[in-house]
Amino acid sequence: MSNQLHRRDWLKQTALATLGMGFSLNSLGGEDYLPKSYGSESGLLNLGSNENPYGLSPFAKKAIADMIGTAHRYQYNIPGLQTFKQELADYYGVTADHILVTPGSGEALSLLARHFSKGNLVTANPTFGILPNTAKKIGVEVKEISLDSEKVHDLNAMLRAIDERTAQVYICNPANPTSTMLKPAVLKSFCEEASKRTMVSIDEAYIDFLDAPDNESMISLVKAGNPNIIIIRTFSKIHAMAGMRIGFVIADPKTIKDLQSNYFGSSNFSLSALSMAAAMASLKDSSHSNSSKMKNAEARDFTYKSLQQMGYRCIPSYTNFLFFNLKEYKGDFAKDMMAKNVVLRSSEQPDGKWARVSIGTIDEMKQFMKLMKSLNT
Ligand SMILES: Cc1ncc(COP(=O)(O)O)c(C=O)c1O
Repeated sequence: MSNQLHRRDWLKQTALATLGMGFSLNSLGGEDYLPKSYGSESGLLNLGSNENPYGLSPFAKKAIADMIGTAHRYQYNIPGLQTFKQELADYYGVTADHILVTPGSGEALSLLARHFSKGNLVTANPTFGILPNTAKKIGVEVKEISLDSEKVHDLNAMLRAIDERTAQVYICNPANPTSTMLKPAVLKSFCEEASKRTMVSIDEAYIDFLDAPDNESMISLVKAGNPNIIIIRTFSKIHAMAGMRIGFVIADPKTIKDLQSNYFGSSNFSLSALSMAAAMASLKDSSHSNSSKMKNAEARDFTYKSLQQMGYRCIPSYTNFLFFNLKEYKGDFAKDMMAKNVVLRSSEQPDGKWARVSIGTIDEMKQFMKLMKSLNT
């Protein structure tokens, strides 16, 4: 047996074992527990973690190659972090003291859950799991507000849920797992209202997949001096750097200082200088981001239309994944697809079973649709 085959079997067994542990139906609420450690190079169609299938910007690759000679040095010997923060600050129109860089935005989300744990958390259900799940694990009350029938955040209900004990509101926009978005003006007025009473954290992991004017970031509220708005960003999505672990937070300098001392203490050992160099290069390569965005839109449209044609209710997507209802599907969809070498997520919601499939390349999505058509649903 070749090494590659061997590896593929091992990966598949690992994935099946994990799915067999009963996580798949709850998978969308608790993504941090799910199998993720495999890629299409191992023979699986990996449509499970909303990665960018087109790979790193060539400039990011070059930046890594150029810096590899210093990789034996600790990061604090290299002025990487300050330069990176300054470049991010210039790019987003804030100052460097508005920025905290973390090893992936997932780290920022769990840090925020811990930092604002003295009162309850208001968020949506379903939503991206790391922040609410961390909060639950450490005993924080989580007020989960159902999305509306179109799978969009119910902002009025969320506002009503804020009480005098609320320490934080978490909104993922565009939303994971449902792929919907809130119009900037609507979200802005919610943020302004809610931030009078509590901290408001907006996770903009997928914002770069939106077109103007919908891609307006809530960073403008931080810039305007609102101390209760926190923005979370990642290089894992449009920048295709999921394995390189770079995320960041933009907020009021006082909040950043508190988070910085809470998380890092006096050092920043957990950040990779190579990853920061790659991120800086990627930030400047808008042509690579734009091409990922365009290819994603094309493959997404194809998949959306194909699923609709098959009679699936598919939520219009503003991201690099699709959320669709599984009709009368009997059994565990994610587990059954895993047995066919496809990684995706499925979950049981109050209105039935739903699946979330990431948008891969057009060829991958054609393979996926071929498989969907072979299912007897
Ligand atoms: C909405 C959202 N936020 C944050 C993350 C975490 O990404 P990372 O830790 O790779 O930055 C993800 C990952 O899928 C996500 O979907």
